Amino acid sequence: MNDGRERLRIAVQKSGRLSEASLDLLRRAGLAFRASRDKLFLYGENLPVDVLLVRDDDIPGLLVEGSCELGMVGRNVLDEQRLAGDTATTPTRLLDLGFGGCRLAIAVPDGSAIDVPRDLGGLRIATSYPALLADWLRTQGIEAEVVLLTGSVEIAPRLGKAHAICDLVSSGATLAANQLHEIATVMHSQAVLASSPRPRSAAATQMLERLVARIAGALSGAG
Ligand code: PRP
Ligand code: ZN
Ligand code: MG
Repeated sequence: MNDGRERLRIAVQKSGRLSEASLDLLRRAGLAFRASRDKLFLYGENLPVDVLLVRDDDIPGLLVEGSCELGMVGRNVLDEQRLAGDTATTPTRLLDLGFGGCRLAIAVPDGSAIDVPRDLGGLRIATSYPALLADWLRTQGIEAEVVLLTGSVEIAPRLGKAHAICDLVSSGATLAANQLHEIATVMHSQAVLASSPRPRSAAATQMLERLVARIAGALSGAG
């Protein structure tokens, strides 16, 4: 199909907030699969579809380069990649999946003098989403320094690396555990189904459309 592959690939988060719900949705769409020995793949047993288990942050790149035809990932991760703009082509968002709801928020240490967004002027904000944060700061007319951290953003204030953070909040447990509270919402997000922007064969297109229809059907039949 693609690069001579006979099977579609769908990328799913390997371990994290979206993993279980993503696999559950694929099962409800009628896909039966078994794990490869190295646990990197799930082989589709009843359809020519394999599930690639990867870090969520890698999913937009896998779609852009065409290593996978489909991916389930947070809308915030796709938007970050699009805004960062290292490639002209970006994945296409096909469906909102109704799980993985969260918000990208600005949070500050409890007791901090930072109360409202404009108090962030001239300060440092740590995040794994530098493009989304820079875009929001621009729209707010705030000049602040963006500090890139790829993980454990919530400990940056305690380490003195930043005055505030911009990170995903779902239940709020991570913020609470780190004595942080929200002062602003940058964006709302949820899991989405996205497709590769790369051209594909007629056979691959047909297979992809069939799988997307099954997933959409599973979503509308969800109860
Ligand atoms: C986000 C965020 C926090 C956590 C917040 O990580 O970075 O670690 O979720 O959730 P809570 O409000 O329910 O405590 P994510 O699940 O995106 O994982 P990743 O950073 O490893 O990709
Ligand atoms: Zn991630
Ligand atoms: Mg995290």
